Amino acid sequence: MSPRTSTASPTAQSFIGRPVPEVVNAAGTLASCTFLDSDDVDAIAIAIGAPVEGDDELQPRAGTVDASARYGIDLAELAERATFTGAAGTTHTIDLPTVHARAAQALPWAGLAQRIIFVGVGRESADDLRRAGAALARATVGLARVVTPLASEASDDDARAFVEGYLLASYVPPRLSARPSQRRPAEQLVLLGNVADRVLEAAARHAWATWLVRDLSTVPSNVKTPQWFTDRAVELGEAEGLDITVWDESALARDGFGGILAVGAGSANPPRLVTLTYTPFDAETAEASSHVVVVGKGITYDTGGLSIKPREAMVPMKTDMAGAAVALATVLGASQARSPHRVTAVLPLAENHVGASSYRPGDVLRLRGGTRVEIANTDAEGRIVLADALAYADAELEPDLLLDVATLTGAASVGLGRTHAAVFSADAELVRGIETAARASGEQVWQLPLVEDYLPALRSEVADLRHVPIEPAGGGAITAALFLREFTGARRWAHLDIAGPARATSASHEVTKGATGYGARLLLRLLETLG
Ligand code: BES
Ligand code: MN
Ligand code: ZN
Repeated sequence: MSPRTSTASPTAQSFIGRPVPEVVNAAGTLASCTFLDSDDVDAIAIAIGAPVEGDDELQPRAGTVDASARYGIDLAELAERATFTGAAGTTHTIDLPTVHARAAQALPWAGLAQRIIFVGVGRESADDLRRAGAALARATVGLARVVTPLASEASDDDARAFVEGYLLASYVPPRLSARPSQRRPAEQLVLLGNVADRVLEAAARHAWATWLVRDLSTVPSNVKTPQWFTDRAVELGEAEGLDITVWDESALARDGFGGILAVGAGSANPPRLVTLTYTPFDAETAEASSHVVVVGKGITYDTGGLSIKPREAMVPMKTDMAGAAVALATVLGASQARSPHRVTAVLPLAENHVGASSYRPGDVLRLRGGTRVEIANTDAEGRIVLADALAYADAELEPDLLLDVATLTGAASVGLGRTHAAVFSADAELVRGIETAARASGEQVWQLPLVEDYLPALRSEVADLRHVPIEPAGGGAITAALFLREFTGARRWAHLDIAGPARATSASHEVTKGATGYGARLLLRLLETLG
């Protein structure tokens, strides 16, 4: 049997790693800036804050005052009259009439950008500004250049949130068609007030990483085989100068990866394992820094295997490799940021399919490191490939911090919905670090407990472990985490179950519909805060 070749699109790979839109800074204010002519600028965007407690007045910002003077229009009054609320994530666009040539001198906005966008900034928290940035992106689709002083008085963190929100909501999914998408973000966003370059760079890096995860997750699984994903990882990793190792089926067999092989056995597209390592250039820093290993679930399609999924449940399963994409984006982002930490991404890649060689319920597998595991349900494939990868990381990579990211259980999504990932760890300080990174990035988490009393559910009569409980008694996200823990040795470890937030059924603020890219920004922030 030869692997299926991809026919859907020869160009899917051309999207992978594409740049995000351009955001640049410029000195000055709306009152002083010299390039507001309508030939150069399509729109200006100004901030309006929500009324404060005990008051019902909108809170126009400095930009509103400057723009009012420049345009000769009381913009604050206009916003009131339009019943604009200033709520974060809302916008209101004013399209000024064109000034007739014969009246050119009569109207004060002659020659200026003809579109003014009110952007609600709420109470101006970082979350509010992220939403404001996202709303601005949606309000400026298709424009060439937009100028705003909105971030000019913001702290670095708040300005970064604004730009991240803008870049995240600018995302348009790749379209595998000769007809390109009509939706395009504004070609250039100009931030007045000299927002620091490093703020713009950080925002662009984190948005790029998120776009990468979204793009990889969006590619259909007839294109996105384990080998295809490997090729993309190798291309991106080589461009960044990372150290890369790839295992094919025979190398996986040689090195005892019985889990990845079994899960991938039912597919014509054989499994792979890829590691990519970024090592900080400065040896002295490297000495003092930690080695962070991120293992990501890379199921390129999850049919459930012989324990096949119902029709509707299978539809979104091309995104079951989101964890691997997050791990890949994290090591690339760490390298781009010249992180002081060593980072390794470990990507177990397999397609969980139905075939003559599928693994079966009742099989006993020998995983990496020798643990024998009894299979009860082939749809619990994620924890099997992760177990192999975690055992490998523990035995060979000497991680100071071991993380795994996975679209692991429907139970996590049922419990927490689509906004929060479930985080599991025995290390309270690590959980606090992840919670802090979650607050800063806007990618939210909620800790679930590793309940020791549920451990007996993983006992097997015929092997060392059973990978799912015999009698499901709820707590499916917890028992999955307990299973993974068995393969982490004594490492400092945290597990992120992103089954809920990896996909969105509708766009909301910086989150786009479909694959959300959840996790890349969270982990890149965590690396930043590790010091
Ligand atoms: N990939 C799924 C989990 C999933 C479900 C992710 C829905 C995103 C949305 C995973 O491999 C799976 O099938 N898990 C099973 C585990 C069960 C068989 C113990 C589940 O959650 O039902
Ligand atoms: Mn499954
Ligand atoms: Zn799965």
